[in-house]
Amino acid sequence: MEEKAPGPIGVFDSGFGGLSILREVRKVLPHYDYLFLGDNARAPYGTRSYELVYRFTLQAVRYLFDQGCQLVILACNTASAKALRTIQQRDLPAIDPTRRVLGVIRPTVEAVGQYTLTRHIGVFGTPGTIQSGSYDIEIAHLYPDFSVYGHACPMWVPLVENQESDGPGADYFVKKDIHALMSLCPDIDTVILGCTHYPLLMSKIRQYMPQGVHIVEQGRIVAHSLDDYLRRHPDMARRCTRGGTCSYLTTDDAEKFSTMASVFVGEPVTARQVSI
Ligand code: DGL
Repeated sequence: MEEKAPGPIGVFDSGFGGLSILREVRKVLPHYDYLFLGDNARAPYGTRSYELVYRFTLQAVRYLFDQGCQLVILACNTASAKALRTIQQRDLPAIDPTRRVLGVIRPTVEAVGQYTLTRHIGVFGTPGTIQSGSYDIEIAHLYPDFSVYGHACPMWVPLVENQESDGPGADYFVKKDIHALMSLCPDIDTVILGCTHYPLLMSKIRQYMPQGVHIVEQGRIVAHSLDDYLRRHPDMARRCTRGGTCSYLTTDDAEKFSTMASVFVGEPVTARQVSI
């Protein structure tokens, strides 16, 4: 097959959350070029149906492919839970079998075994991710003797998307949801933040999480997993350009996105609005 022109690594999320993955990926793999796409206009995805999350995610993946990305990371648990498998198994063979789409749930689950002593794992996620049972299924597959307790936090993503992460509303909901999860089982010693928006609430989460509970953030885990993937797939690594650049696209207002993203990634961001 003819060799494709290399392109940036695509990173997709429904909104700002994927920046928590991108930031860590760029620390571990700074030499590659990245193209971030946030579907802010249609966020949150977490309360939407399978059909819609799949349709929106496929549109985003196609869009990033059209921009030249050979590899796309779904930096979104909801999209990874509800759309990844269908895209990998049904759509990619038809669109272009040489391109790749990777998710964030599998690498997170692979890493979780190293943190727990009690083998009781809590998972915070969007309603969509928790209802999909994806974490339960993946954890049962890799660690059959672990117990998993999921709790959906429908208000956490809207708090982040509406820049209320530091406000009193965030205190109320973070405290309430941590209490609800920990009430399910007192032996939970490891809690997965199974939504890429949640690290943006980290200071509140740390404040209300009981002492001694390990909080699993996905950014570094996904970054190291991607590093490992590219080492094992030098053919794909060759198809990712290395200029150290990062461009940002959003489906909502570019200025609003740029302001928020600049604070979050710690450097000036100039996003462009696109319709996908
Ligand atoms: N950040 C996404 C996730 O990891 C989804 C947030 C949303 O749009 O509900 O699940």
